[in-house]
Amino acid sequence: MAIFIRGGRVVNHDNIFDADVIVENGVIRAIGRGLDAPNGAKIVDATGKLVIPGGIDPHTHMEMPFMGTRAVDDFLIGTRAALAGGTTMIIDFVMPSKNTSLVEAYKKWRSWADPKVCCDYGLHVAVTWWSNGVATEMEELVAKHGINSFKMFMAYKDIFQISDAEMIQAMKKCKELGALAQVHAENGDLISENSKQLIQAGVTGPEGHALSRPEEVEAEAVTRAATIANQVNCPLYVVHVMSKSAADVIAEKRKQGAVLFGEPIAASLGTDGTHYWNRCWRHAAAHVLSPPLRPDPTTPGYLMDLLSSGILELTGTDNCTFSSDQKALGKSNFAKIPNGVNGVEDRMSVVWEKGVASGKMDPCRFVAVTSTNAARIFNIYPRKGAIAVGSDADIVIWNPNHSRTISAKTHHQAVDFNIFEGMTCRGVAEHVIAGGRLVVENGKLLDVPAGSGRFVPTPANAPYVYMKIQERDRVRASPVNRDGGDVEYLPMERMSV
Ligand code: URP
Ligand code: ZN
Ligand code: ZN
Ligand code: ZN
Repeated sequence: MAIFIRGGRVVNHDNIFDADVIVENGVIRAIGRGLDAPNGAKIVDATGKLVIPGGIDPHTHMEMPFMGTRAVDDFLIGTRAALAGGTTMIIDFVMPSKNTSLVEAYKKWRSWADPKVCCDYGLHVAVTWWSNGVATEMEELVAKHGINSFKMFMAYKDIFQISDAEMIQAMKKCKELGALAQVHAENGDLISENSKQLIQAGVTGPEGHALSRPEEVEAEAVTRAATIANQVNCPLYVVHVMSKSAADVIAEKRKQGAVLFGEPIAASLGTDGTHYWNRCWRHAAAHVLSPPLRPDPTTPGYLMDLLSSGILELTGTDNCTFSSDQKALGKSNFAKIPNGVNGVEDRMSVVWEKGVASGKMDPCRFVAVTSTNAARIFNIYPRKGAIAVGSDADIVIWNPNHSRTISAKTHHQAVDFNIFEGMTCRGVAEHVIAGGRLVVENGKLLDVPAGSGRFVPTPANAPYVYMKIQERDRVRASPVNRDGGDVEYLPMERMSV
């Protein structure tokens, strides 16, 4: 069925203008002023509202098996919640166990997601160990399975963590394949030592989680990963940027020319680590994720400033939810509290409230950091991330004049706690169209069929990521011509990093 969006203000990352929008057969067919509604089209009145590209959440872990249990938001409930908040695509993580096949793990994730997803989705694959076989499987994933990003863990010792030597090999392979390297940046060896000491000293509660992995443990790992990536000339994406120190490293490396993307998440932009000292264990444990939220309450504002100014590129959520009963697995030892928090439903509203409503960014930047930049980095732009003729009809009618108060009592997620509880956000997803279907009407989530979302392959060699890498390669590999009379440049002048 066609949909006619009448009288709204269209916002793209680079433009804002008044126009009607016609959706037909799952794509945007026309954009312009004073268009005629197609016969029988559903009319959506967008007067006084913004018409924006559906949100893309590049970092979720639906139904992920982790720390002896499994995330409660599965691909069905989690993607419905995403839609309710204005996110029309997620990119989830395939997490192969050490010494197991990456391709088999990919197939397993597809078999979990395909029958359930209610919005479109893509996948990243984690590299949790290294061998020639892993390298060959990375080739296959890129060539045949629509994967263009591989994540390495510098933490979760003995589970997902890999060594620097392995990370160098994995990044070299990413570079060869035109893929993007991603890192969970924390020093896992230090965390393991710190945790033991804290437990011995009698610190067993959730505050121990924050104390065991302070800011410099994150910043050190970001520096190390960025240095390795830079030496290999591989583009790098730091997932869940949680601290000022980590963000400062990214700012500095980018200033020096590194191809480096930083992803703060709804949690790090919307709340802080003072909650770990809450006297209620359940409350404190509900905020446990890694890297942790920071006790410095000025952190969210600082990260939002860097996001607004272009130093940090995009926002995710790391949505990985565990109920209070699951969190209680770590009742006597903070190191056993399953790591993860909510965000997929609330990210758009939190970023609008803390970014646009508070005067730090304009609606175009909002679109860039919630949708377009993810589409560009993962090479699905302008199919996604744009209100443009021919783009997928993933559209949100955003009402900047309405507000809502976030609560676990009313959210659509499966988890029984919301880390943004009580936060009133201006900016509401009033109507949502996903793949050409109206899925939210007047703020109410409609009955979206399981499996109605599609897997979206992400092709290698994203121009947004690789154009500069190619130029750097060209300059790096040019020998001095000692026969001719031309002026030669010193390496320092060729490239600052
Ligand atoms: O605590 C977190 N972040 N849980 C999900 C797994 C990860 O590290 O991304
Ligand atoms: Zn992580
Ligand atoms: Zn409580
Ligand atoms: Zn994650």
